[in-house]
Amino acid sequence: MEVIIQPDAAAAARLTARLIADAVKAKPAFNLGLATGATMESVYAELAAMNKRGEVDFSRVSTFNLDEYIGLPPEDKNSYRYYMNFHLFDKINIDKQNTHLPDGMAADEVAEGARYEAAIKQAGGLDLQLLGIGSDGHIGFNEPLSSFASRTRAKPLTPATYRQNSIYFDPPETMPMRAFTMGVGTILDAKRIVMLITGAKKAGIAAKAIEGPLTSMVTGSAIQLHPSVVVILDEGAASQLTMREYYDWVFANEPKWKNYR
Ligand code: GLP
Repeated sequence: MEVIIQPDAAAAARLTARLIADAVKAKPAFNLGLATGATMESVYAELAAMNKRGEVDFSRVSTFNLDEYIGLPPEDKNSYRYYMNFHLFDKINIDKQNTHLPDGMAADEVAEGARYEAAIKQAGGLDLQLLGIGSDGHIGFNEPLSSFASRTRAKPLTPATYRQNSIYFDPPETMPMRAFTMGVGTILDAKRIVMLITGAKKAGIAAKAIEGPLTSMVTGSAIQLHPSVVVILDEGAASQLTMREYYDWVFANEPKWKNYR
């Protein structure tokens, strides 16, 4: 795992977008795993701006999102399909046919999980999975105690996640209590993982996921099992990391990071 600390959230989002854009440039028919949440909005704004300037081409890119609320149709403003169209897909030259999310309206939940897994496999697997992290350590909607071997499935959300995300719903009680999410195992199958964590509020959970013990109580800690992970943080989110000097040392000296410093 490599850990890169940027001065602020804007710089962290810019670096995240650049890593994604450079990966797409190197392999134009790219399978990109995407995440939602407030943290990702500036990453998508940056990717849209780069696309507009002709710096990155999404015409051959396929995307697979981590998760979707169960019971929300695509046109619902709180669905992750709506979020993705609004923040990214409507602003870049991607073929919408190549953008995938679990179908929140699927009647057969078990079949929907299997269909999504098969779609990722058929595409050739994920070249890169972008991740945020929830305050309880979840990646996607893999709530505490989700197995590290889990695959795409319906997952009940925790009361804490419900309280945190229901602020976006009007009225808050209309938030679904369950979601489809890629499993931790699905995420770990991606060839690369890029995780973005910003804000002092996430400092405690960031330290647990990056430096803490492997535990399904913090599903974000599962990234420690993956051979190719970069975690990008701002100063606030990095404030409880103990190996800071080492992270900065690697970023300052490793040739692979030369163009990103
Ligand atoms: C949701 C998503 C996660 C995301 C998390 C953090 O719960 N399912 O994929 O990482 O929110 O969101 P935010 O960036 O708003 O803190």
